Amino acid sequence: MANKKQLRIGLVGTGFMGRTHSNGYKRIGDFFPDLQYRPVLKAVCARREDKVKAFAEQWGYESYETDYKKLIARNDIDAIDICTPNDSHAEIAIAAAAAGKIILCEKPLARNVEEAQKMVDAIEKAGVANTVWYNYRRLPAVTLAKQIVESGKLGKIFHYRANFLQDWTISADLPQGGEGLWRMDINAAGSGVTGDLLAHCIDTAMWINGAITDVSAVTETFIKERMHQLTGKVQKVGIDDACIFHCHFSNGSLGLFESTRYARGHKALYTFEINGADASIRWNLHDLNRLEYFDHRDESIVRGWRSILVTDGDQPYMKRWWVPGLNIGYEHSFVHQVADFLESLEKGAPCEPTFRNALLTQKVCEAVIESANSRSWKDTGVK
Ligand SMILES: NC(=O)c1ccc[n+]([C@@H]2O[C@H](COP(=O)([O-])OP(=O)(O)OC[C@H]3O[C@@H](n4cnc5c(N)ncnc54)[C@H](O)[C@@H]3O)[C@@H](O)[C@H]2O)c1
Repeated sequence: MANKKQLRIGLVGTGFMGRTHSNGYKRIGDFFPDLQYRPVLKAVCARREDKVKAFAEQWGYESYETDYKKLIARNDIDAIDICTPNDSHAEIAIAAAAAGKIILCEKPLARNVEEAQKMVDAIEKAGVANTVWYNYRRLPAVTLAKQIVESGKLGKIFHYRANFLQDWTISADLPQGGEGLWRMDINAAGSGVTGDLLAHCIDTAMWINGAITDVSAVTETFIKERMHQLTGKVQKVGIDDACIFHCHFSNGSLGLFESTRYARGHKALYTFEINGADASIRWNLHDLNRLEYFDHRDESIVRGWRSILVTDGDQPYMKRWWVPGLNIGYEHSFVHQVADFLESLEKGAPCEPTFRNALLTQKVCEAVIESANSRSWKDTGVK
């Protein structure tokens, strides 16, 4: 550690993502020992003192704060990591940028394009390093999918198809809003499955297959009113419970995307399939180490879908882990994102997706919602 440069982390939010990020920072020294930067868990922030104190003790943070403004004001913090619900991303990021902090922000970048644009303007004015946690890019099989597409093996791409299916909001008794249920509240989340789940699918899709130029969408809110946890009153539900859209990519291919929290039996089924003139690939989060590949150029008598277990040392990220044949998990995508971010600091290069890149996904999400609301095609403005 003595000859390492410290990146002193101030993490905001101690929920699901607070844990995945903390785990990511803690694994770096053991599995990426060659990196020059080492994360130091300097301080964590959440509003309730009992909870944040317990989190700091459990995860090994040196200190804690209950107000993010105090965290940002500290001179012993280099980077602010935003793991709070979507409605606070903009205010925290803009304040952190003004203080000259490095910023890592959870996805979606913001609730809407207007907020996201202000965030991009703030960090670019400040000139601070930044990244957005679209972590699925860093699962080895997904990274390999991108490499295969870039190699040209698939030939001309015709179709990109993605789903993200869950089933946890089917009960009409489920309240909306507040701790743990902010995703159900339009004011906190900005949108429903579009910003929460499809944003991941859109980020991966544009990373692998290029710009989504225009969209035609349909959304549905199956349960129209729910009790709000903070007010105790039954209120209109503003989020999209389900969203289906189709689109054009700038490379001439067609896209088809579906997300819902009403697909009984599915907890977090993210899948994508890409069909090209010569070959196809498909991937599924429930079997995340595996990439399936079909090549029409194979001899016909043995032609079929190959099942590639992405665990070899020459496949993305895997030389960092165990031996060929042994799987890694969901949490490793966050370790990889930390590692890539630290390497980008070393090189003085951007760590994609930057805020500017995540703004493009935000634009597609907004076009999707506008298309559904107006029952018409919408240009995304992404090229
Ligand atoms: N990359 C991914 O795959 C992924 C997965 C889940 C969530 N997310 C994103 O991460 C963010 C957080 O989601 P989560 O599931 O961890 O939520 P969560 O509800 O589990 O945790 C949110 C935390 O933020 C804290 N918080 C809220 N407002 C705060 C404030 N003003 N100051 C300090 N702390 C505050 C809450 O107390 C809680 O500890 C969201 O933007 C979400 O979209 C990304």
